[in-house]
Amino acid sequence: MLNITLIFFVSVIFELSQTYENLAVNRKTEQSSISEQSKHSGLAVDNNTDQRVSSCMRTNLEQEVWWRVDLGEIKSIYDIQVFYRNDSDANVKTRVDYHAGFALYISNTKCDGPTGGQLCYKNDDGEPPLQSDHICQIHGRYVTYYNERTGSGSNLPPSVVNTVTIAELCEVQVFGCSTGVFGDDCAEPCPQNCRDDLCKVETGVCLQCVDGWKGEFCNQTTTVFISVPQPIGSQPPSNYTVFIAIVFGVILMFLVVVIVALLYKVRKSKSSKSHVNAAYQGTLPAEESQGSNYATLNLEPTFLGHQYGHLETSNASRSSHPYLSVL
Ligand SMILES: *[C@@H]1O[C@H](CO)[C@@H](O)[C@H](O)[C@H]1NC(C)=O
Ligand SMILES: *[C@@H]1O[C@H](CO)[C@@H](O)[C@H](O)[C@H]1NC(C)=O
Ligand SMILES: *[C@@H]1O[C@H](CO)[C@@H](O)[C@H](O)[C@H]1NC(C)=O
Repeated sequence: MLNITLIFFVSVIFELSQTYENLAVNRKTEQSSISEQSKHSGLAVDNNTDQRVSSCMRTNLEQEVWWRVDLGEIKSIYDIQVFYRNDSDANVKTRVDYHAGFALYISNTKCDGPTGGQLCYKNDDGEPPLQSDHICQIHGRYVTYYNERTGSGSNLPPSVVNTVTIAELCEVQVFGCSTGVFGDDCAEPCPQNCRDDLCKVETGVCLQCVDGWKGEFCNQTTTVFISVPQPIGSQPPSNYTVFIAIVFGVILMFLVVVIVALLYKVRKSKSSKSHVNAAYQGTLPAEESQGSNYATLNLEPTFLGHQYGHLETSNASRSSHPYLSVL
């Protein structure tokens, strides 16, 4: 009875910890080196987490090693679990020292080499445990295990003296969902305005939004302001510019006034002449007295006042004191 209860409990815990799908099982794998001592890369994705030597892949001892699994297409990853060899023998510590400083990368292509793509995890805080879990919600197709002893980049614990390393992995589990869905059972679709249908596998938060949408779930519209760009270098007019403009304006107005006045004057004198001439063209009245000639001119009211002119007559005797008096 106790045994049955225990088994039930264990299976419940197992179920809870296995919520996401293991995307790596039986996928294509490759590794940095193959030799008589090495063991083939597929042993790390055979869905067998047994940590004895018979169940683990292995590279040669080298300065730089890597192992890679191809998930088949870009996946929405939640975590990566690494199982090292544990034969519970005297050499456990030596083997762990070889693994210190390892890194996990996730990439969409393998063209950029074993360290291309995004870094999921880098061991730089001592010897790694024989089984470890690294959460990194990243989208990608290739998962690469990488280590090196080239002297660059690794912050190794002081106990690690080896100048070569090895990849000896009994299982690498990559948990997550296909793209476009999220949640424990990979059953919920990503919010509809996520760009490229990509969202975080745990929360459904979009990586990016399609145009016109914002917010973590891309369910808020963006308000679009059409901004008219100011011409480069344009600035509000300075006081000096305003002053110059006013001065020019005043000068211009003055010139206009002067020109109008001149035109008016020219017009006036022309028209005055023509009136006076018109008056002179008439014949003088018949009644004339000796010695003083006068003419009665019918001038327009504007000419009343002090208009003096030269009165000429054809008669020489009458022109001794010529004047024109306008009344
Ligand atoms: C891997 O093993 C687990 C537990 O042993 C099992 O539930 C699952 O179906 C296996 N996956 C595949 C793809 O064989
Ligand atoms: C290694 O294996 C032994 C025997 O199965 C086990 O007692 C020990 O806890 C394991 N060590 C680690 C770190 O997993
Ligand atoms: C956006 O979606 C989230 C998650 O479904 C929801 O909690 C939130 O209220 C939504 N916001 C708006 C503005 O609709």
